[in-house]
Amino acid sequence: MSETLKSIERRSSTRSYTAEKLTPEELDTLLTAGLQAPTATNRQELRFTVLPGDAPILFDIQEAMGGRARPTMNFWYDAPTVIVISGERDFRWTAVDAGIAVENIALAAESLGLGSVILGCLKAAMDGDATGNFAGTLRFPEGYGFQIAVAVGHKAADKEPHTYDRTKQVTVL
Ligand SMILES: Cc1cc2nc3c(=O)[nH]c(=O)nc-3n(C[C@H](O)[C@H](O)[C@H](O)COP(=O)(O)O)c2cc1C
Repeated sequence: MSETLKSIERRSSTRSYTAEKLTPEELDTLLTAGLQAPTATNRQELRFTVLPGDAPILFDIQEAMGGRARPTMNFWYDAPTVIVISGERDFRWTAVDAGIAVENIALAAESLGLGSVILGCLKAAMDGDATGNFAGTLRFPEGYGFQIAVAVGHKAADKEPHTYDRTKQVTVL
C-alpha cells in the first residue's frame, strides 16, 4: 500500500495530546500541505492562522462557545498547535476548498506521526456577536470568515479510525 493510502487509512481524530510542541519543520510541513491543496479556479483564497495552544484568544473563543463547549476539556484538547482556516465569504467554493485543505493538513500530520482533530465546533461562536474581535485578532482579511480549524500535536492516546457501511454509502451504477 502506498504511503498516501496508509495515511488516509490510519488517520483518526486525536483528542488527547502530550505537552510536546511541534518543531518549526513539522509546522512548516503542515502549512505547506494546506497551501498545496487545490482551490476552485486556483483562487488560493484561504488564509491559515497558527496559534499556540495557550493563546488567550482560544480561551476567549471557548468562553463565547458557552454551552457548546465540553465541560471537562477545552475544544482544542490542549493540543500545542491550532491552525484556523479562514476564507472569502463571497466565493462560492470557499467551504469546499477549506475542507480539502484541512484534510491535507490532517493527512500530513498523520504521515509525520502526529495526531490531529478537525474542529468545527467553534463555528457558531466565530460567526456570532464576537466575530469582529476574533477576526481582527486572528488577522482575517476584510470579507473573510471562519471556515474550519484543526488541532495538531503528539498523540497521548491512540484511537481507531471510524468504521463505515460501504453498502449504505456507495452506489456503483
Ligand atoms: C467538518 C468537521 C468538523 C468537526 N468538528 C469537530 C469538533 O468540533 N470537535 C471534535 O472533537 N471533532 C470534530 N470533528 C471530528 C469528527 O468528529 C471525526 O472526524 C469523526 O467522528 C470520525 O472520526 P475519525 O476522525 O476518528 O475517523 C470534525 C470533523 C469534521 C469533518
